[in-house]
Amino acid sequence: MPVADPLQKCLQEYRRRTPNSRRIHELASRFLPGGNTRSVVYFSPYPFVMKRASGCWIYDVDGNKYLDFVNNYTSSVHGHAHPRIVAAIEEQLEKGWTGAAAMELQHRLAEVICRRFRSMEMIRFCNSGTEATMMAIRAARAYTGKEKIMKMEGGYHGSHPEAEISARPRPELAGIAERPLSLPDGPGIPKSVVKEVLVAPFNNAEAAEKIVKEHGQELAAVIVEPMLGIAGQIPPKEGYLQSLREITEENDVLLIFDEVMTARLAVGGAQEFFRVNPDLTALGKMIGGDLPAGAFGGRREIMELFSPERREFIHHAGTFNGNALAMAAGLETLKLLNASAIDRINAIGEVLAEEVKKIFWEAGIAAQVTGIGSLRHIHFTAEEVVDYRRAMTSNEAASKLLFFSLLNEDVFISPRGMFCISTPMNRKTTEILLEKIEGKIEILKEIVKKGK
Ligand SMILES: Cc1ncc(COP(=O)(O)O)c(C=O)c1O
Repeated sequence: MPVADPLQKCLQEYRRRTPNSRRIHELASRFLPGGNTRSVVYFSPYPFVMKRASGCWIYDVDGNKYLDFVNNYTSSVHGHAHPRIVAAIEEQLEKGWTGAAAMELQHRLAEVICRRFRSMEMIRFCNSGTEATMMAIRAARAYTGKEKIMKMEGGYHGSHPEAEISARPRPELAGIAERPLSLPDGPGIPKSVVKEVLVAPFNNAEAAEKIVKEHGQELAAVIVEPMLGIAGQIPPKEGYLQSLREITEENDVLLIFDEVMTARLAVGGAQEFFRVNPDLTALGKMIGGDLPAGAFGGRREIMELFSPERREFIHHAGTFNGNALAMAAGLETLKLLNASAIDRINAIGEVLAEEVKKIFWEAGIAAQVTGIGSLRHIHFTAEEVVDYRRAMTSNEAASKLLFFSLLNEDVFISPRGMFCISTPMNRKTTEILLEKIEGKIEILKEIVKKGK
């Protein structure tokens, strides 16, 4: 039967290329809801199943080889199975990796992180970005004695209840743009949590100031990604983060930067890039060299609340906190991610973003390529994307079409249009992406013409 719709055609081709993935997905669905254990990596009709990965390539169980621009949603900053990270893990494997006692590598990685991130005087390790933001919020509540927090609409901080407020609300249900409603992102979030989380639009310092002033007495912290990540790599406007710093300081509210994604933008993360020091920072993703690890930390007087040497302290446990495999991989990852490596991937990302923009512009397709340095996102909209609601004007069908049509030609970006650069990439790699995008212009024009 002939299939005229370009998206249907792509899906048909995707199914043809991935029969083993489909079979494994169906088997997995018997034991894992949706065949899956990580919502963000699921896409309909079923995600391909990865067999192995090396450098900037992912190999699936169907024999396809993809050029990986997703990089595990930015954590794989050195691509996959970097030989030096493999060697560091292997060396540690022989010595063991967990026990009910700290291993020395934990102290070494803590020192490296504190030296890189200037606002982090002391840190603690956990196992994910979710835990890192959850514990940073806990620290802020303990330190200030206040309970509410403020986050940004579309801001993503993982999957604990506070983080699951207005991370992906439907704009038509979310009230006025300047004072968004706090909406739970799914079932199972207590009303009491919804009440404790205030929501502000990203990149609007005046709106943030109003909320902070109105609720200063009960507000423990403002948590913000210095650049909105999952929402579409939306950079802060000039002076926005500085304004948040001033507003919070003036109202005795702590400022938490969630640098789970942005840590890779400079040696000292986005806080160095934008020259703004938060009180607390949450880290994850690359910090454990692609093994499960997260960290949170900040001003000494706040972090000392965790010291068990105090009479009253914040209890923070975790069977695998600071496990030596993640510490070894993290140390090697950060050693490799020095200033020149960062400059290099940022420069590749800048050039690539300009070239992608040019392709769409010359084709007359309304698209924005947002982001900074190595972190990028394509939005199919004529609007300047400065916040979550603007990102939501993007033509979803066009993103989906681009995603599947690239995947069918062995290039992997995220289904919503995110792509990022890893250190094994070079000009040759980015030329492949450009050439493939150019090849999709005609079908994209069709779908963009149809509108949302
Ligand atoms: C900014 C940000 N914060 C927190 C998280 C949650 O991290 P994890 O998936 O390790 O729990 C993510 C994950 O994508 C993130 O991008």
